[in-house]
Amino acid sequence: MNIRIEAPSDHAIECAVEHLKSGGLLGFPTETVYGLAASTLDADAIDSIFRLKGRPSDNPLIAHVLGPDDAKEIVDGWDERCDLLASAFWPGPLTMVLHRKANVPSGASGGRSTLAVRSPDHPVARRLLHAFSGPVSAPSANRSGSISPTSVDHVAADFKEVESDETLLIIEGGPCTIGIESTVIDLTTTVPRVLRPGSITNEMIQEVVGEVDGSRVESQSASPGTGSRHYAPSTPLRLIRSDELGRHSGSSSVVIGSSTVVDDISIPSIGLPPDPDGFAEGLYDALRRSDGMGVDSILVVLPGDGPEWRAVLDRLGRASENAP
Ligand code: TXA
Ligand code: MG
Repeated sequence: MNIRIEAPSDHAIECAVEHLKSGGLLGFPTETVYGLAASTLDADAIDSIFRLKGRPSDNPLIAHVLGPDDAKEIVDGWDERCDLLASAFWPGPLTMVLHRKANVPSGASGGRSTLAVRSPDHPVARRLLHAFSGPVSAPSANRSGSISPTSVDHVAADFKEVESDETLLIIEGGPCTIGIESTVIDLTTTVPRVLRPGSITNEMIQEVVGEVDGSRVESQSASPGTGSRHYAPSTPLRLIRSDELGRHSGSSSVVIGSSTVVDDISIPSIGLPPDPDGFAEGLYDALRRSDGMGVDSILVVLPGDGPEWRAVLDRLGRASENAP
């Protein structure tokens, strides 16, 4: 398809709004990962997202809004817990699943009666939502099954090979600072359930709303995008401990790990910051770069455990062939 990349000038934002209004798809930056956007209320444009991403039609999308007032235009069941969560974490990487209002096409939530909403915390995303003055549905801007994009180049690389006469306009917003997708929490139940861990941890949510069900989501039906093999490079990926590194010298591999662990090893490696936020920020770019190296395997040294690593370990588990 045709790819057009624009710096986030006022003119480019105007073009982006026109593009969305005429049913086009837009790549745009958020603080987590880049999104592939269409107007939430335009059923045909929503269909194009599924078609061009190659996404199963039952995998629901997140609607992006400026804040609670806009969210309440498209979801029912916004309660006090939602107010508390929005005050604590919006704008930011927390997605709330509530009931879909009848004005929202069912395709926007993969045919479900629920709808996920989130208020992104990226200046370009917010300018775009202001200018468009309506909700924008956006999955991560990668082809289905591949790794979420954290830069404009990642988005362009995924879509340039797609057979289509359509134009994908991408607004540039620099590398994403969080680097992994938002925390998704289901608030249609009495006890909120975390469907996808993210940088807003179960413990942080618990502090705001009390009890939270944080048991790992395995079933596709609870949240289709959380299938066990997801977020995966095409090169086989294995998770290893640092004391296993020696065994792999001489193999055709690239190692990804905390810089403190991989800096002095003899196998080609990509070092990431040793803290959970820094590791998450660089992880997808490291996976994509490793995938392009033509090696037989990608080895990721397990960076740590504990609640602060939950989201990173979740993604690594889904990307690997030997999930812990
Ligand atoms: O950080 C993010 O959330 C990024 C940026 C662009 O906002 N978006 C993103 O979208 O990661 P996507 O479509 O790649 O992942 C959305 C996840 C999927 O696992 C999907 O199944 C789940 O959220 N989800 C969305 N709506 C849902 C619903 N109504 N019920 C249950 N799960 C839902
Ligand atoms: Mg995705």
